[in-house]
Amino acid sequence: MFSDFMSVDLTASLYLLSGVFFILAIRGLSSPETARIGNYLGMSGMLIAFTVTILNLEDNSLSNLILIVAGISIGGLIGTFLSKKVAMTDMPQMVAALNSMGGMSAVLVAWAAFLSPAAFGLEINGYIATASMVEMLLGIFVGAITFSGSVIAFLKLQGLMKSAPVILPLRHVISIGIFSIILVCSYLILIGSQYDQVLFLVISILSLALGLLLIIPIGGADMPVVIAVLNSYSGFAAAIIGFTLNNLALVITGALVGSSGAILSYIMCVAMNRSFFSVIMGGFGDEGVGGEQVKETRPVKIGSADDAAFILKNASSVIIVPGYGMAVARAQNSLKEMVDKLKEMGIKVTYAIHPVAGRMPGHMNVLLAEADVPYDDIYELTEINSDFAQADVAFVIGANDVTNPAAKSDPNSPIFGMPILEVENAKTVLFVKRSLGIGYAGIDNDLFYQENTMMLLDDAKKMSEDISASI
Ligand code: TAP
Repeated sequence: MFSDFMSVDLTASLYLLSGVFFILAIRGLSSPETARIGNYLGMSGMLIAFTVTILNLEDNSLSNLILIVAGISIGGLIGTFLSKKVAMTDMPQMVAALNSMGGMSAVLVAWAAFLSPAAFGLEINGYIATASMVEMLLGIFVGAITFSGSVIAFLKLQGLMKSAPVILPLRHVISIGIFSIILVCSYLILIGSQYDQVLFLVISILSLALGLLLIIPIGGADMPVVIAVLNSYSGFAAAIIGFTLNNLALVITGALVGSSGAILSYIMCVAMNRSFFSVIMGGFGDEGVGGEQVKETRPVKIGSADDAAFILKNASSVIIVPGYGMAVARAQNSLKEMVDKLKEMGIKVTYAIHPVAGRMPGHMNVLLAEADVPYDDIYELTEINSDFAQADVAFVIGANDVTNPAAKSDPNSPIFGMPILEVENAKTVLFVKRSLGIGYAGIDNDLFYQENTMMLLDDAKKMSEDISASI
């Protein structure tokens, strides 16, 4: 009935239109100023794709429609509830959970198409065409790896599993062995083995095991990059299944998610000066935060909120450098209040954002936007780095690695080559953190012991409130 109304050309054109909306959505999400409109564009694209798919349903019986609406309503409600409840710092695990569902969907659709190919229009003379079979096998393989890998990423980030890398002996040999068995099983299915269902099951189980083996050796703190990689996999899994379902919108969307996830992983690796390969091979980034004490004997200047307020009030220009600790402490609002007081006194205050400050791309931008910090006050590393030399105060709040000069001076440092915010060039550096402990990369920061540095050892929120009060 509906499907008669939708011609093939009209369907393809509308799916293409939804693809245009998705591309514009990604464009919009590239800046906090346009992110909201980007979200609306994405939702509109999804609404078009969804409506066209419903109008194209072959079986539009009432029971089928009820099932679809029920599925969307339940999923939508859970999604709305989770997104409202999730804390900004827990966003990576939320994405991991969503990626796992994308992966599992690809596995389930591939299984459904394999078990009832006629329902999917994939049966020719009682057989499934080789191309369709390859798509299903790829869908299972990529989808299952995405699922089990994302579940491990979620468990590590949520603290439900030890975040330290789990390095199994001979893990590469085991992985290559599993991959070889998957290849052999796929070949047997393609040449028409009578045990195809058993082989399909073996491939599913082994792909799940492979996802697990790939992610357990990676430390919890490297997970944001891994999540971008898994996000990319989930997109490619959807695109592959889009071919099986003959659904252009799914192919377009999957390819967009797959390629943008891959680009994001690449950008994150470049900004952290880590090779993509070394992240995937694991063993680095074992949760370096948490106020660990370093056995240091060098003298260090420790100040109070009153000392900091005095220095800040007497400055004419201040650059704020936020980092992961600000996110953990949820200090953005009290920081903004402190900055407003300084601005009222005629002091120029700007914010410097490092591309990998925090634990996900744009982490600091989102938090500052949440606190209504004007976009014009926020500068990227390349725009502001030379200004530190003229600044009276660099106010570093919960950031560590992104300021560490070892990135420039110590070729043996894990962050060597990573661009850093050159806060040491400011007349005074105020460091708000709870201890002299390390950051994500697990290395000491020489800046803490410099002549022009004053450490303000406290929780970021409490310290900015205390400084505000003192001002
Ligand atoms: P980090 O180097 O991780 O330092 C954060 C500091 O915040 C810690 O040293 C910690 O010191 C302090 N802190 C924690 N809780 C705090 C609280 N409640 N109040 C005050 N301070 C607190 O963070 P960063 O400078 O933002 O650098 C980010 C790091 O993450 C980089 O190494 C980057 O490569 C990595 N990374 C980033 C991303 C993305 S995309 N952003 C993805 C993966 C990895 P105390 O324990 O002493 O308080």
